[in-house]
This record gives sequence, C-alpha cells and structure tokens, in this order.
Amino acid sequence: MTITASFPRRARSRAALTALLLAAATLGSGPPVKRVPEEIQLSSLDLSKMRVAQVGGRNATPSVAQANKAIDGTNLIRIGGEQFATGVGTRSPSMLFVHLGGGSERFLALVGVDNNPLPEPPPPAAGQQPRRVQPPGTQIFRVLGDGKVLYQSNPLGRGEAPVLVNVDVTGIQTLVLQVKPAEGQRGGAANWAEATFTTGGARPQAIDIPVEPRTILTPKPGPAPRINGPSLTGVTPGHDVLYKIPVTGTRPISYSVEGLPKGLKLDRKAGVITGRIAERGRYPVVFKAKNKAGEATKQFTFVAEGLLSLTPALGWNSWNVYGRAISDSLARVAADAMVAKGLIDHGWTYINLDDGWERTKREGDPLNEGPVRAEDGTMIVNKKFPDMKGLGDYIHGKGLKFGIYTGPGPTTCQGLEASWQHEVQDFQTFANWGVDYIKYDWCGYSSVLKPGETTQQLPVLKRPYQDGRKALDQVARDIIYSLCQYGWGNVWEWGNDPDIRGNSWRTTGDITDTWESMNGIGFRQVGYSKFAGPGHWNDPDMLVIGKVGWGPRLRDTGLTPNEQYVHITLWTLLASPLLLGNDMAQMDDFELNLVTNDEVLAVHQDELGKAADRVAKNGELEVWARPLQDGSLAVGLFNRDEMDTKVTVQWAELGITGKQTVRDLWRQQDLGQFENEFSSTVPRHGTVFVKISPVK
Ligand code: GLA
Repeated sequence: MTITASFPRRARSRAALTALLLAAATLGSGPPVKRVPEEIQLSSLDLSKMRVAQVGGRNATPSVAQANKAIDGTNLIRIGGEQFATGVGTRSPSMLFVHLGGGSERFLALVGVDNNPLPEPPPPAAGQQPRRVQPPGTQIFRVLGDGKVLYQSNPLGRGEAPVLVNVDVTGIQTLVLQVKPAEGQRGGAANWAEATFTTGGARPQAIDIPVEPRTILTPKPGPAPRINGPSLTGVTPGHDVLYKIPVTGTRPISYSVEGLPKGLKLDRKAGVITGRIAERGRYPVVFKAKNKAGEATKQFTFVAEGLLSLTPALGWNSWNVYGRAISDSLARVAADAMVAKGLIDHGWTYINLDDGWERTKREGDPLNEGPVRAEDGTMIVNKKFPDMKGLGDYIHGKGLKFGIYTGPGPTTCQGLEASWQHEVQDFQTFANWGVDYIKYDWCGYSSVLKPGETTQQLPVLKRPYQDGRKALDQVARDIIYSLCQYGWGNVWEWGNDPDIRGNSWRTTGDITDTWESMNGIGFRQVGYSKFAGPGHWNDPDMLVIGKVGWGPRLRDTGLTPNEQYVHITLWTLLASPLLLGNDMAQMDDFELNLVTNDEVLAVHQDELGKAADRVAKNGELEVWARPLQDGSLAVGLFNRDEMDTKVTVQWAELGITGKQTVRDLWRQQDLGQFENEFSSTVPRHGTVFVKISPVK
C-alpha cells in the first residue's frame, strides 16, 4: 500500500501514530517478522552517503548531512514554528540511497523546509557590495522504492508547517529519500525530522548512490576511409581559408578534391585546404579520401558569402580544465592531443584560450608584470605566452584553428587586461596572431557604465557587442564572434541583430561538472530553438566531461557515465557550440567514444541548422527533437529521475505520421520500424538518442 496524501501534523500526533504502528506490528498484524520491530532513526545511518547541495563555491568546505541538527550543524531542526530534537538536516537538492533488503515495514518522517534564521553572508571582497543570502524556494520531498514513487509531497515553502510522510516499505529492497527544488525554484536547507524506519528484519543501511559502468556504446570506425564533418563551410571572399578534411580510417590516407575553386589549394597528404576565394559565391566540390582499405567521397560546399559558423563550432577551450593556469605549453599539449587522440578526424577544430593569457595592473596579482600595453597601446601578453603568433602558427600547422578570449570592459572576469577603448587595435593584434575565434566576455564592462545606466537596459546590454562587431568588421580575417554575457536581457532575441551578428551567445551563467548544473542549464533551453540557425547559435556553455579542474589541479568530472551521455546528446540536439573543457591528452576510450560518434556529430553538424526544442514532458521525463536536412528527426528521450523508467514518444508529438525507421545513434544500430510511437527504457539520469526517418 502506498500512502501519498500529505497533510500537516503536529509532532506529537506523529509520535502517537508511531506508537500505534509499532504496537500493531508487535501484535503480529501484517507480514510475519523475524523479530520484534524496532524504530531505527534515519539519523543513525551513515549520513556521509547523503548527497547534499554544496554552497560557497569550489573552495568551500563540503557540507555533509547533519544528524539531529539543521544543515548549518548548529541549530536544531526547525520546520515552520516547530523544533525537533531528532532527524536529518540536509540541503536540497539532496538524495540518500538506503538498502532496506526487505527488512523494514514503514518509513515515517515530518518534512519541510528549514526555518532557522538564514546564515550570515560571506564577507564581501574589497570594494564589493555585501551579498544577500537568498531564502530557499519551495521543495518537493520524495520517497522512491525499487524504482517506484512511494510518496511525493506538494511543493513546501519556508515557514510552512511540517508534513507527515508515512510510507509502507514492506518488501522494498532499495529506498531513495530525495528532496528537490520545485520547478524553477532555488534549493536550500530542508529537513527529514523525526525520521524513522520500523524494522523487523535487516537493518537499513545507507549506501553509495549506485553508478552505472562506463559503457562504450559506439562501435569503432572501420579501416576504410570515412569523411566526417559538415557538408559546408562559410568563408568571406578575400579572407584566408583553412579547412581540414576530417577523415577516419587507416593511415596513410591520400586526399583529393574535385572542383576546388580558384585560389584554394589542397595538401594531399594532410587533407588541409588553404588559400583565398576571391569571388563571392557558393562552390560545390567533391572530397575524396583513399587508403589501402578503400575510398570515400563526400559532397561539400564552400559558401563564400561572408557568413561564418554555418554549423556550430567543435573545439576545445581552456577554462573548465585549467582556468587561469592556461599557458602556451598547455595549449600546445591540447593541440597535439586533438590530433593524437584522433578528434581532428571527426571534425574537432578549435583550440581556444580563455581568460589567463593577459597581464594585469592589479597589485598582488602574479600576472602583474609591468605594463599591460606597449606605448602604442598594443596589448602585452603575460610570461606564460612567450610567442602568441608562434602559438597560432603551431595550431594552424596541425590543421586546427586558434581562439582567444577578451572582453569589452577594461578588465576580464579574472581582473586581467581587456579591450575597452582598444577594440579595433586588439582585434587587429589577434588577427596578426592568426586568431579565428573571439570569446567576448562582458564582466568588467559593468564598471564603465555611465551614471543612470544599468544592466536592465537593453541598449546598454547591446552597446559593447555592437562596438565589438564594428571593430571586428574592420579586421580582414574570418573570426567567429562568440558573445558571453550569461544570457542577460534575453540575448538570444537580439544577438543576431544586423549590428551585432554574434555567431553564438551564452544563454546561461557558468556551468560546473555536477548533474544539477548541467541538467539544470540544459533542460532550461526550452523555446530557444527559433533563435538559432546557420551562423548564429545558442550557447548553454562549454562541456564538462573528462578531466576538468578550473585550475592547475585536475580531477574526473562529477558527472556519472549516463549523465555524460545526456550532456553530449542534449548539447548536440541544441546545436550548441561543443567546446571540450578537459585535458584531451588524458581522454580514455569511454570519453573519446562520447565525442567521436560520427552519427551523433552528423546531427550536430547538420546542414539545416535547426536546433532542438522540447516536444514532450511528463514529470522528469522529457523528449527533445531536432529536424534534419534529410527529412528525418533526431530525437532524445531523457530521464531526469532517480530510477530507470520507460519513456514513450508519440508521432503526434513529433508532428509525423506513418511507418518510421528508428535508429539508435549511440549504438549506430537500427531498432526497427515503428508506427504511432516509440518507447524505450531510459536509465536514471540517462538518455536514448535516436534518429527517426520515414520508411521510403
Ligand atoms: C566568465 C565566463 C567563463 C570564463 C570566465 C573566465 O565567468 O562565463 O566562461 O570565461 O569568465 O574568467
């Protein structure tokens, strides 16, 4: 039996209920028990196993769930106007897996948002306003048993009275206690007060959150050549072109191109095309790649119409891995690894420096090395970068492209020199170094707003990106313009205005390598698909798979294997730029499999350039679909819940009818023909990614 009704009760009545239930069990009603049932406090379990939302940034001491205390570790548990001597204080989103082994009959608790005074804010940094601590939003408490929802509360707010959870857990092997913020709400301190198991058999035991094996779903490419990458590239007439034909297959491979436009030349051994196209126009060509196992061809078009990034960028950026510790040598290691690990053969192209290559005037900063600019105003790089032009040449020499970071303010987010009032000069300097991609980060621009100007005003938000565009148009080089201002003012609505023409714009704040961050950002992109298209993409921030670190010390991503499949699948569907943020040199077969599946990448690079949007949602289950050039659909079935669940997508939700072939893109396997709908069991925090095409 399941008791799902939630109603406020006073603690005293709950204690009475426990006594009654215990008495009933003792008297022998219900299933036979091995011994007299006892009450086991949730707080007596190993609470280090409870997942607790962390606060205070990456360097803060991690919070752990508290026995008989609120999460602050000091106050008693307080819900509404009541205080409790026993229970567990946690912070939502929070989760605990408990092995019951069929030994318990009942789980009882009084739940609610913690109502102790809010903690003091951390002391503000010099010159900064003190931050206010935000109260938690409404929270949902859930009890799951062996893959079923046994109990779910309504959204409970701070100050609300405690709610009784009274769940029959007879026969349950694994129980999950979960607290999560209601849709669109902030997490925060939350309590399982007076939480007890009534246990007659095996004692409940807190266990680690089960993590699935790192399964490699994709078969390895064969020995014969296969030409990957997009079917077109956008260039500007008269500007330098560099295009590496990405091909898998046994080396050596010899390349040829039919119909190469005048001004371009091919390196037949490297498969790299360079030169310039003088005349505006579209230039169809045929790529050929040959090795001892066979030959491949691919139709391709050079679109010399001045629009760049006709498909979203594929590359690497230094931030999520090295943070400020990025250096010339680490950038070279990245370029080497992109080639050595074969990523380049699947279309991965950009090696982008993020913040950390510049100098600063700021006292006490190790990158304060004297003047930040030469007498003529040219930016001077810091000692970690002895030769920027040399670095650009090195990257290009491998058939890769070079990206850099700056901002429209006087300083970057790290307080290093940025391009305010030097826009044209800096962009020209970058062009001289061979830069192909600029990430233009707002940060320090707030400090140069005039009196009365705020970031709530659209003209103010647009101005630095209009100025940046004007500057970039004065530079005779094809440079991708990547807007970074965290989605302010719904940038997706104007980032492609004629006077800005951003090739992408961040739609969110910074990502980090947790499920909450990644899935929170990813699934929030609802309704944005109409703003993306060839040359202009939504950017929900960079990837967080593999070895990440934001500094000199690296660690494995906090995402589970299935969560990593969700990350790549969703970002592929969203047609976001894919920028790896990990140490590529340390990528293992699992991680490489995630980013070198050519059928998945073909969706990402699809010529139609339409991004996915959500087509169905049922609680924690979602379906996102992206139309493709060949008339089929790329469809992601997602399970954001805590247990494996069947997900079904109806043809009506996809706007299609009739017989359809469904192909599993991660496994590169046809699943058969289906009519009306397709369903599949999708693992916890996991995905099934398919291509659905009409039967011909
Ligand atoms: C901001 C951006 C990040 C990164 C850092 C660098 O936080 O959003 O992506 O570029 O600045 O300081």
